Amino acid sequence: MLIKRPQIGAISENEVTPESIYLSRRSVLKALGIVAASGVALNARGGVFDDLLGGDKPASEAPRSPLPYTKDNQTHGLILTPENKVTSHNNYYEFGTDKTDPAANSQHLKTQPWTLTVEGEVEQPGTIDLWEMIHTSALEERIYRMRCVEAWSMVIPWLGVELGSILKKFKPTSRAKYVAFETLYDPEQMPGQKSRRIGGGIQYPYVEGLRIDEAMHPLTLLSVGLYGKTLPPQNGAPVRLVVPWKYGFKGIKSIVKIRLMETQPPTTWNLLAPNEYGFYANVNPNVDHPRWSQASERFIGPGGPFSSTRQKTLMFNGYEEAVASLYAGMDLRKFY
Ligand code: MTE
Repeated sequence: MLIKRPQIGAISENEVTPESIYLSRRSVLKALGIVAASGVALNARGGVFDDLLGGDKPASEAPRSPLPYTKDNQTHGLILTPENKVTSHNNYYEFGTDKTDPAANSQHLKTQPWTLTVEGEVEQPGTIDLWEMIHTSALEERIYRMRCVEAWSMVIPWLGVELGSILKKFKPTSRAKYVAFETLYDPEQMPGQKSRRIGGGIQYPYVEGLRIDEAMHPLTLLSVGLYGKTLPPQNGAPVRLVVPWKYGFKGIKSIVKIRLMETQPPTTWNLLAPNEYGFYANVNPNVDHPRWSQASERFIGPGGPFSSTRQKTLMFNGYEEAVASLYAGMDLRKFY
């Protein structure tokens, strides 16, 4: 068993995730020949030793600017995950598969200028100058639960705008039934896109999708910041999706393209392991992952760097009242 010496403020994956899950998600990668047979994941620079040390701390962190925003005055009784944990325990396979790789390897990502294309089933296709959008929009803070499919969770104060308000400006046609999202494809900047081993065997660019009613739902956020400032690169700077009632992998990072479509778009984790990760990916404690239970989760909250508490997972991640009607009559075991 690999013993890691974690950094201060970072949480090693096996601290917050039962070993069975920690190892079994890697076994998908192993089956694909991505992870060394010993079970030791090589990090973004291929260094077993770096992995043993729990990854590198970024030599210099990308600067983040404070943003004006309307505060979320309802704390909803939620306890926030400290900022240093939100920004040091990440999944962003373009920068490596270890939880500390994204913070270590993404700080150079060039996020200015940034253009977001909106195309497909819209009357007025076009582009968004992302930084102009950030500076001219009324940004809102949204304190949301975030539940990873790996059975850990956080509570994060995001900043952003409702995705629906953006999409409406491009006038979706009546044929727009789905919305597809695409991450930047730039192997020079994203080492995981250059190498199957570093990037977890994913076929890049990372892609995601929502049904149009999910995309238009007022809880669905196009996020440009967290904890009062612009997003750090490891969390998906400069713009990512946040859909709080779905597993975290739906929250695609560093988006460059949005395409409205008549048919259901392919999604990255579903392409990789369709029997394990569905298109819908709604948080559901009653439908287990084929290899582990989804009934409970380890909440990464305040406390020592490695502390976490086990809690019950809530239906639709606690947003049942707001979103259950979207799935009325659907068999959620089939549409997982
Ligand atoms: N987006 C891209 N482009 N690449 C990724 O590897 N990982 C997803 C999602 N978005 C991922 C991504 C997964 S599995 C999770 S759980 C969340 O990002 C993690 O978001 P966080 O690092 O901000 O907690």
